[in-house]
Amino acid sequence: MPLSLISNDKQKRSGISRAEIADLYYNCPTDELISIGQRITVQNHGKSILLRGLVEFSNYCDRSCLYCGIRKENDYVKRYRLDKNQILEIVKLGYERGLRTFVLQGGEDSYFSTDYLCEITKGVKDYTGDSAALTLSCGIHSRSQYRELADAGADRYLIRFETANPELHSFIRQNIPLSKRLKAIETLKEEGFQVGSGFMIGLPKETDEDRIDNIMLAGELELGMAGIGPFIPHPDTPLAGSLQHPIELSVRATALLRMVLPKTHIPATTAAGTLDPQGREMMIQAGANVLMPNITPTEAKKNYLLYPGKICLDESGIQCIGCLSIRVKPLDRELSFAKGDTL
Ligand code: 5AD
Ligand code: FES
Repeated sequence: MPLSLISNDKQKRSGISRAEIADLYYNCPTDELISIGQRITVQNHGKSILLRGLVEFSNYCDRSCLYCGIRKENDYVKRYRLDKNQILEIVKLGYERGLRTFVLQGGEDSYFSTDYLCEITKGVKDYTGDSAALTLSCGIHSRSQYRELADAGADRYLIRFETANPELHSFIRQNIPLSKRLKAIETLKEEGFQVGSGFMIGLPKETDEDRIDNIMLAGELELGMAGIGPFIPHPDTPLAGSLQHPIELSVRATALLRMVLPKTHIPATTAAGTLDPQGREMMIQAGANVLMPNITPTEAKKNYLLYPGKICLDESGIQCIGCLSIRVKPLDRELSFAKGDTL
């Protein structure tokens, strides 16, 4: 076991090689992976689980990604948009409850022009000042658009690369090349954003080597946050009926990702909690240190179904915070309301 490499907490990246990760991927028992991932997490992040309040502001999307439940061709979706005032109200409620990071996520919805997103960003930042961080997650835009958003006060940007396999990426994202996504990530970093990215795991046609590449690519991108979500086939998409892999695949990948990125924030994703009632807990044990309560109003969030069976649809998100604090106790962790900047 290359423990010397993975215990170095001075560096952002561990320097662990692809061959070593591959060896662990193929040969290391899950309980061992979890215990290594957990040790590195506690060494670098302590026992805190950071909270990020998620606001799903629009389920309109101009894109046709094969995996995604809100793809534009899905006529069964009841579409909605939250307006600026609604978004600000949600942020205020979350702020009063103690949240200090807000993630505004939406489909690639051209109704939300850069000007409008800037207005919303300014509204949030006028209210929170620098005491809270604002993350945007609304797809690929041009450098000048990213710059305007940064100038308006947005601190962070979330944009998953989805898969490190270029052919698979083009297939699932309907000919949008991986290189375009990676370019967007670089541009965002150059424009001063703390960038979060990551991938789905268990996509159709994905190989073991692709999964190792995903982990290594997340390692190379110098991310502030890196997330893994199990792919969950949505019945109203072209990938309906694909094989659903067990949660263990995501848990093992989380531990390996933690070995590659000791300092990076790693969320225990809602998709993991959807696939298995203990999925988020398992991810925390393997290496995650972030939870993202969904503070979207219940009327809206039930229509933001990227995948089926999403959890917490009846809870306000503020209620989720109470639930999450109970859930992390047996793991010997506690929720943190810190802003949680990139380390
Ligand atoms: N299963 C799991 N995750 C999904 N996402 C989109 N559709 C699915 C699905 N069917 C993830 C993508 C996207 C993020 C917002 O949600 O990784 O980047
Ligand atoms: Fe939402 Fe438990 S986290 S109800």
